[in-house]
Amino acid sequence: MLEVRELSTSYGAVRALSDVSFTAAHGEVTAVLGANGAGKTTLLRTITGLVRAQGGSATYDGRELTRTAPELMPSLGIAHVPEGRGVITELTVEENLRLGGLGRGGRVKPEDLERIYALFPALADRRAALAHVLSGGERQMLVLGRALMAEPSVLLLDEPSLGLAPRIVAQLFELVQSLVVDQGLTVLLVEQNARSALSIAHRGVVLSLGRVVVDERAEVLAGDDQLRHAYLGF
Ligand SMILES: Nc1ncnc2c1ncn2[C@@H]1O[C@H](COP(=O)(O)OP(=O)(O)O)[C@@H](O)[C@H]1O
Ligand SMILES: [Mg+2]
Repeated sequence: MLEVRELSTSYGAVRALSDVSFTAAHGEVTAVLGANGAGKTTLLRTITGLVRAQGGSATYDGRELTRTAPELMPSLGIAHVPEGRGVITELTVEENLRLGGLGRGGRVKPEDLERIYALFPALADRRAALAHVLSGGERQMLVLGRALMAEPSVLLLDEPSLGLAPRIVAQLFELVQSLVVDQGLTVLLVEQNARSALSIAHRGVVLSLGRVVVDERAEVLAGDDQLRHAYLGF
């Protein structure tokens, strides 16, 4: 499991995370919810060592992550898909996918690519196209597929649904759910779209101003009118 203990992070004088603690269980989706500015992105960036933790820890199967170099994350089985769907637009879909296999070391084999194309038939159809021409939904599939090239056991997803049409969000979340069910992946799903995230999550952790204000089973959180109105906006 991924265990976050009393994690704190500051940007200069701005405290972005204060003593954040929770556990993301193996083979489950843990949704990290909260308003814009709550500290969700900072949480993922602190876990993967992109931002220095001021205190606390994040361990995966006993390994401390916050003081491990970010480039070593793939070799530890951790994949971070940042917000913003960054792809290299001058490269083809397939070349972008190949980059995802680098962190693991060794050559990218044709079957590694085929495994991704089986998950995302839309990417298979466009494998030779420049990433530049992809729609927002396709780009999200590409960054997810690129992360999966490293065969991670933990996937950290930062707002994958932002700006996508509801139908595409549903497809994307269905796919994430199938990865969890079929491959036992552990997912930390950062979302402002609480309703969709909770529909596939086992647990929901709500951040507000850098603190954990709720840590509940997803169906309890989604079914509690008071909590939903106070923190989730639906
Ligand atoms: N690079 C940065 N420098 C200074 N402050 C930052 C930086 N990134 C985020 N912050 C601040 O930290 C807080 C949490 O931001 P963030 O983690 O991006 O929240 P969220 O992802 O939940 O929207 C906000 O107050 C934000 O303004
Ligand atoms: Mg964010």
